[in-house]
Amino acid sequence: MRPFIAANWKLHKTVEESVETAARLKIIIEGVNDRDILVCPPFTALEEIYHVIEGTNIMLGAQDVFWEEEGAFTGEVSPEMLKNVGCEYVIIGHSERRKYFNETDETVNKKIRASFADELKVILCVGETEEMRDQAKHRDFVEKELEDGLKNISSSDAKMLAVAYEPIWAIGTGQTATPEQAQEMHAFIRDRLSVIFDQKTADSIRILYGGSVKPDNVKELMSQKDINGALVGGASLDAESFGKIIKGF
Ligand code: 13P
Repeated sequence: MRPFIAANWKLHKTVEESVETAARLKIIIEGVNDRDILVCPPFTALEEIYHVIEGTNIMLGAQDVFWEEEGAFTGEVSPEMLKNVGCEYVIIGHSERRKYFNETDETVNKKIRASFADELKVILCVGETEEMRDQAKHRDFVEKELEDGLKNISSSDAKMLAVAYEPIWAIGTGQTATPEQAQEMHAFIRDRLSVIFDQKTADSIRILYGGSVKPDNVKELMSQKDINGALVGGASLDAESFGKIIKGF
């Protein structure tokens, strides 16, 4: 499967800073054609970045989307609006949105279906807290996130889907899941996807790992059978460090 390395810049960078980072990244990854690369800057920088990366193999993504096409929904942005500024992908259901902005499996599902209706590809984020893992409830929790988040989505639409396994205890903590822990959950997720869709579809969906991915741990993580990519936060803010992750396996 073609590896997929994605940057989630979260609430960082002005337009100028975003453009500068994207321009540096463009130079660093020149000639790298055997993997998919995605940057997800804040909404305000999307259009400008699109012009910087146009014609390269870096794709553009947003960090969230709303499910309605238009209307009186102050502050929201639709899938069509994201496509309109050059987005190919959107991240949906990040744990930070679930924690701070009341995102639920139900709203995640609405957002995914609306995105697919406009042919906007999706990275669905799932992952458990440390407490859930301690109580051995992490599998059940992730299973529910997948089942409810992916309700009423066809196997053919699942071609536009990637899943990111991001254990909450590993996000921004420097405490990466071990390659074995990650592999175990990725295999579990693929198995659940085979029940939700079918085996062939599950085998074609890329499952990314996220949570303190750095240049020095990407290789070991990417060597695992069911780890098909990475969703990188902190270490993607610097073009050199993100470039090392992209080239580091
Ligand atoms: P960090 O790489 O900073 O741990 O963040 C991971 C993440 O949340 C990516 O979406």
